[in-house]
Amino acid sequence: MEVMDAIRTNLAVREFRPEKVPPDVILKILEAGRLAHSSKNTQPWRFILVDDKEKLSLLSKTTPTGGHIANAAFAVALFTEKAKLPEVDGARAMEDMMLAAWSLGVGSCWVTNFDEERVKQILKVPKEWKLITVAPFGYPAKPARKGKKNRKKLEEIAYYNVYGNPISSIIS
Ligand SMILES: Cc1cc2nc3c(=O)[nH]c(=O)nc-3n(C[C@H](O)[C@H](O)[C@H](O)COP(=O)(O)O)c2cc1C
Repeated sequence: MEVMDAIRTNLAVREFRPEKVPPDVILKILEAGRLAHSSKNTQPWRFILVDDKEKLSLLSKTTPTGGHIANAAFAVALFTEKAKLPEVDGARAMEDMMLAAWSLGVGSCWVTNFDEERVKQILKVPKEWKLITVAPFGYPAKPARKGKKNRKKLEEIAYYNVYGNPISSIIS
C-alpha cells in the first residue's frame, strides 16, 4: 500500500478479530518503529510486545479509555528512556508502526489516560522509563465507518505564507 493511501484510509480500530497476527508481520511493525526519526537520532524508545491474554486484560484495566486492549491480538507498550522530547519521539515511532500495520491489514488505536505505575508494574519495566502509550493491534473486526474519515477541511487549518491567507491561493 502506498504511504498516502495508508494515511488516507487509516482509521482508529477498537474491535479486533480473534485470530493471531503472524510473528513476521508483528516484527515488520516493530521494525517500522525502530526506523523512525528521533531527536538527535537518540532513539530513546523501548517497545514491549505483549500478546499474553492475561497481560492484555490487565493492561486494559489501567486506563478508562482503553478497554479494547483486552481483545487485541497484541499490544505494543511504548516507553522512552532519558528522552529530551519523549512524547514527540514516542509518537513518531508509534505513528510509523501504526501506518506500517495498516498497510499490512492490521488495525490499531492510540490510547491515553494510563495509570503509568501500574503499567510499569505489569510489564516489569524500570521505574525511570516514561510511558508514552500502550497501543492495541489486530485484524479489524469490521470496516470502520466504511472507510470514511471525519476531518476538518484543509482551508480550516492551513494558510499560505501568513495566517488568514487561504491555502487555495497556492494554485492561483
Ligand atoms: C493523542 C491521542 C490520544 C487518543 N486517546 C485515545 C484513547 O484513550 N482511547 C481511544 O479509544 N482512542 C484514543 N485516540 C484515538 C482517537 O479517538 C481517534 O484517532 C480519533 O477519534 C480519530 O478516529 P478515526 O481515525 O477513526 O476517525 C487517541 C488518539 C490520539 C492521537
